[in-house]
Amino acid sequence: MKILGIESSCDETAASVVVDGKKILSNVVATQIPFHTKYQGVVPELASRKHIEWIQPVVHEALEEASLSINDIDAVVATNRPGLMGSLLVGLTFGKTLAWSLGKPFLAVNHMLAHLYAAHLLEDVSYPYLGLLVSGGHTIICKVNNFDDIEILGTTIDDAAGEAFDKIAKYYDFGYPGGAIIDKLAQKGNRLAAKFPVPIFHDPKHRYDVSYSGLKTAVINQIDQFWNKDFEKTPENIAASFQEAAVKTLVSRLFLAIEDTGLKTIVAGGGVAANSRLRELLAERDDLHCIFPPLKLCGDNGAMIAGIAYKFFQRGETSDWNVGCSSRIEGFRHPR
Ligand code: KG4
Ligand code: ZN
Repeated sequence: MKILGIESSCDETAASVVVDGKKILSNVVATQIPFHTKYQGVVPELASRKHIEWIQPVVHEALEEASLSINDIDAVVATNRPGLMGSLLVGLTFGKTLAWSLGKPFLAVNHMLAHLYAAHLLEDVSYPYLGLLVSGGHTIICKVNNFDDIEILGTTIDDAAGEAFDKIAKYYDFGYPGGAIIDKLAQKGNRLAAKFPVPIFHDPKHRYDVSYSGLKTAVINQIDQFWNKDFEKTPENIAASFQEAAVKTLVSRLFLAIEDTGLKTIVAGGGVAANSRLRELLAERDDLHCIFPPLKLCGDNGAMIAGIAYKFFQRGETSDWNVGCSSRIEGFRHPR
């Protein structure tokens, strides 16, 4: 089954053709980063306008790269949640219209579920396992029983992991978006330059939850308090020490979940899954099987959307033509 997957939830306009949830025939990602850089953050109105401009050429390119004509496609799918409403609407409406006009089935896809599926595009992973979903808008530690059966164990009580990277980078003027830039700077810095706090919740209700507001305050407002005087306050050292605490925040909760559930397979997804220090810390545990998608599939892309959709189609599920979009996760199950 050849599925055309469309992704437009934030600042990438993306389309891909994937066969049977595995074989990626094309994967086109048009990033809007240069248009948002001067604002050091995504401007929603600009994002939706760019999606309108780019969606048709991006889909066209995805078909061309796959050496297919539009009539060769068996189904069209698009992200409908979570994300920026204006941006989601563009991909969703385009996808629905295209599917309807071709007389092909349509499915609306949960973006976070798709991030989790990215690793499955290249490797067969058996259930259950622990999922680590870390993006610009969400941070989720979950038990994954099946492709759409997700038990959320922990989440963020304030900022998402990627959001923390972006805000620190914005404050120190490192560039936008912050995650990849901090990761790169950190490689030339010393993570011992400051010992920033890693929060711990004593309430069992929050056992697997994370928080970034304390770390943000420490790095921005109280840096002297945590700084090791043997080191210079360079961007590289700030980046390395911040990244260390940010990543240890995630890893510490994940390790608790591993201990409690006994699950040893971890699947990561989302933009922050590209982080080199996160990958390194998990690789240190040789009792675990940690699966990270390749870098191109960590950030937003259409292949993960087309990939997960195949699992729903296999069960005979499609979406109604009146399916809407939502800025929130809503739920992982389908149809809604
Ligand atoms: O999944 P994604 O592309 O978009 C959302 O669904 O949000 O994630 C984007 C986030 C941004 O916050 C970005 O700064 C972060 O992922 N990111 C990284 C890295 N690459 C991207 N964070 C840490 N280290 C990286 N190497
Ligand atoms: Zn994403």
